Amino acid sequence: QALRDLLQRMPKAELHIHIEGSLEPELIFALAERNQVKLDYPSVEALRRAYAFTDLQSFLDIYYAGASVLLKEQDFYDMTWAYLQKARQDNVRHAEIFFDPQTHTDRGVPFEIAINGIHRALQDARAQWGMSGGLIMCFLRHLSEEDAFKTLEQAMPHLDKIIGVGLDSSERGHPPEKFARVFARCGELGLHRVAHAGEEGPPEYIRNALDILKVERIDHGVRCLEDPALTERLAREGMPLTVCPLSNIKLRVFDRNADHNLRALLDAGLAATVNSDDPAYFGGYMNDNFIAMFEALPLERRHAWQLARNSFVAAFLDEDKKKAFV
Ligand code: ADE
Ligand code: ZN
Repeated sequence: QALRDLLQRMPKAELHIHIEGSLEPELIFALAERNQVKLDYPSVEALRRAYAFTDLQSFLDIYYAGASVLLKEQDFYDMTWAYLQKARQDNVRHAEIFFDPQTHTDRGVPFEIAINGIHRALQDARAQWGMSGGLIMCFLRHLSEEDAFKTLEQAMPHLDKIIGVGLDSSERGHPPEKFARVFARCGELGLHRVAHAGEEGPPEYIRNALDILKVERIDHGVRCLEDPALTERLAREGMPLTVCPLSNIKLRVFDRNADHNLRALLDAGLAATVNSDDPAYFGGYMNDNFIAMFEALPLERRHAWQLARNSFVAAFLDEDKKKAFV
């Protein structure tokens, strides 16, 4: 109980949250009604029952369908505000939020509608609660690099609202090197770079994300332990891994909470952090992820402090702001 209290109360940063993955079924239905969008599911319960995933792709199909109710700037604001309230309850003091512009622009929703709604919610959280945050634009890796370049073009007037770029969606068959040129361009523009790698894909994708995309953090990265030389390198470089425990269980990367390798990652000296990924789909927000791991694995108070500290060290925050937390 004392450990649970610590997990709840300790200040933390969330670095791996897809804002479209925070859309709860109730809000999906409310927005569908508000926007006159027809859903394939008759009720909130029926939709929730469909959240029985077998792998990453089976989840992504439902996640993209859920996002179809987002049409107006206020919809993006309401989604983001709901997430930020949950994060605040979990003592998240800093949140770096992913969004997938192509999921919206490919449906005819303008880029600025999505980004302005999300950004306004982040501004309100800062003004009202002092919660800091940033927005990371992800390219969908199942689409082409040319499409990613078009998205970057649309982002150009909004670069003041974006701290970095990421790479998400279907991993296998879409290796990091597919996006070498667009990531290089983003680097020239001064954007931070991260990529999902080693979630379902092999350790080689982690290595290529580092060497070719020049990323500053690896999203997931849990499969690195299959490659001892890579693990040693990640530890030596202090490369942060944004691990998402409940996501890994729901997408069958590991069978049960007790099988998760979070403790092994920490024991290998890796800069692991805990995050929620798509909390509305995977059964929990930040603290649910912490509690699930601390209940299932031999993790102690020192690990809790380490994980919280890692999250601020890995954040894209000014050094003085970081000092306030670590
Ligand atoms: N998009 C949303 N969640 C994702 C995940 N866990 N992996 C890849 N793409 C995603
Ligand atoms: Zn993710």
